[in-house]
Amino acid sequence: MEIKIINIPKIEDPRGNLSVIESDVIPYEIKRVYYLYDVPSGAERGGHSHKEQQELLVALSGSFDVVLNDGDDEKVVTLNKPFEGLLITSGIWRELKNFSSGAVCLVVASDIYIEEDYIRDFDTFIKSKFNDKR
Ligand code: TYD
Repeated sequence: MEIKIINIPKIEDPRGNLSVIESDVIPYEIKRVYYLYDVPSGAERGGHSHKEQQELLVALSGSFDVVLNDGDDEKVVTLNKPFEGLLITSGIWRELKNFSSGAVCLVVASDIYIEEDYIRDFDTFIKSKFNDKR
């Protein structure tokens, strides 16, 4: 599985750095932005895949691990830089864990919230991959 890290342009300044996500940075039109914060120690988020939606995940503050599974292969990516985005295309199971204290995960999504776009059961996800291959 290819891990797609997108470098978010950074404008460095002695007064503090600034990063911008514009349409040329990600391969889809941005429809929604949300963020995870106040994640208690030991908590896990994610635990689903999307049928169509794509997402860019950015650790705006702190760090966390993203476990990605494409049905064949599993990889763990640690996000801890506010100028690096992890692109998760459709059909990838993801779990977010090991959040540091104060971590903030920004999600830049290709669609509005549609519950029908989620697969929330891992066995159903694996079966959907098997069906794709036939
Ligand atoms: P979920 O996507 O499962 O969160 P995560 O993957 O980060 O663990 O969403 C958790 C709950 O929040 C779920 O009941 C749906 C709701 N929700 C919305 O209402 N709108 C949204 O845009 C999102 C992302 C979630």
